[in-house]
Amino acid sequence: MARETWATRLGFILAAVGSAVGLGNIWRFPWQTAENGGSAFLVVYLGIVLLVGVPGLLGEFVIGRRANKSPVGALRELSGSKRWGFVGAFSVITGLSLLSFYSVVGGWILRYLLESGAAVLGGNPAYFTNPGQYFGGVSAGTDAALFHLLFLGLTGLIVLAGIRKGIELGTKVMMPAVLVLLLALAGWAATQPNAAAGYAFFLRFDPSVITENFFAILGPAAGQALFTLSLGAGTMVTYSSYLGEDRSLPLDGSAIAVLNTSVGVITGLVVFPLLFSQGIDPTATGTGPGALFVGLAGAFSQLPAGTLIATTFFAVVTLAALSSSISMLEIPVAFLVDEYGVSRRAAVLGMAGIVAVTGTVCAFNPGIFSFVAGTLVNILLTTGLVAFLLFVGWVMGRDAIEEFSSGAGSLGRRLGTPWLFAVGVVLPLFLVFTLLTHFGVDTNIGFWPTVGLTVVASVAAFLGLRQPNSVV
Ligand code: PHE
Repeated sequence: MARETWATRLGFILAAVGSAVGLGNIWRFPWQTAENGGSAFLVVYLGIVLLVGVPGLLGEFVIGRRANKSPVGALRELSGSKRWGFVGAFSVITGLSLLSFYSVVGGWILRYLLESGAAVLGGNPAYFTNPGQYFGGVSAGTDAALFHLLFLGLTGLIVLAGIRKGIELGTKVMMPAVLVLLLALAGWAATQPNAAAGYAFFLRFDPSVITENFFAILGPAAGQALFTLSLGAGTMVTYSSYLGEDRSLPLDGSAIAVLNTSVGVITGLVVFPLLFSQGIDPTATGTGPGALFVGLAGAFSQLPAGTLIATTFFAVVTLAALSSSISMLEIPVAFLVDEYGVSRRAAVLGMAGIVAVTGTVCAFNPGIFSFVAGTLVNILLTTGLVAFLLFVGWVMGRDAIEEFSSGAGSLGRRLGTPWLFAVGVVLPLFLVFTLLTHFGVDTNIGFWPTVGLTVVASVAAFLGLRQPNSVV
């Protein structure tokens, strides 16, 4: 059977935006920003999105569109070496790991949505009475496992329907809905008393964050940029492998990054005014899942028409989460279909079956959950992206420039070479550095030893990976 392709250009963009826009924007981004110095963090994060995220995204696109294969086959075929196929296989592990914790959080959200939706018909959602206790009760254990399975089932159904009829059609409906509802919520939030204090909290500019804590926020800012743009997992390689004809990758990539960042900012413009209008201190509820579920649930319980607003909000989050989870499942599914000629149905059943188990483990064990959601995913995404970028720069070389420029007009021709230098040299160095600062900050290694380690790791990688086709 011929390999499927996206039906339209917009279809591909919306699918990629759907993958990018998710819990990373709605749950992680506003709190990361508020916690790390407001708009000062925002500036650093935006810088990384622009200078690392967009070129990195294009790196993944170039691999996928060139090979028309999922990451394993793509790296193996483009390099002609089995070893690179093994590197690609990491994306399968990353996809499964991501989905294992993501589907659990998706389950919580689904539960809040159903609880709120049922209450629209009459009564109050159960979480109105004591948001903290309710969240504690549903976020781990049997309840969490059951809703995780429900969310995973929905994800599986969409992926089962294929690229055009499943992922493309689904995201074409979901993404506009997310945008419209979110804007409506932001407009409504603006009318709430004390909204201005919320904006001030979200966007306050604390320059000392950049001057004094730059080293400390670099890791979180880079991690956030990769996670939110779905980079390093192979999702973007996989999605672009279904691109049929030539389109301008640089334009598509920029559009995706802009839309993705806008959703994060708009979410902040919803969340913080709502919290402040009810006198809820966002820092008091702490970070992580609890912040969204406990703080906001508390605000909803006091707001006029709170049940309706809550239902709308959780509907937005559910759609955003689903349009991301399908992109996680598609990585291992495409791998089985491309590599072993397995039917899509069998591939979805097999891979969702694995996540049904691993996700249930996460649902029952909060320690494993936070390890997977935090450290493991951070390391997998960063090393994954470094591997993809080194591949583009050192193995694909000039072919990558050709692929980058194809369909991109004069812009592509002018940007191709500087872009290749960036993805082959500058970005990997930067990413390895941020990865090490993560450990550096945790273990107090300090700045210069981290620089030293980065150099050693990079020289080793350089010697190990040089290929005849390299331009660097
Ligand atoms: N970008 C998604 C989000 O923000 C998460 C994601 C990461 C999806 C990696 C696919 C791959 O929620």
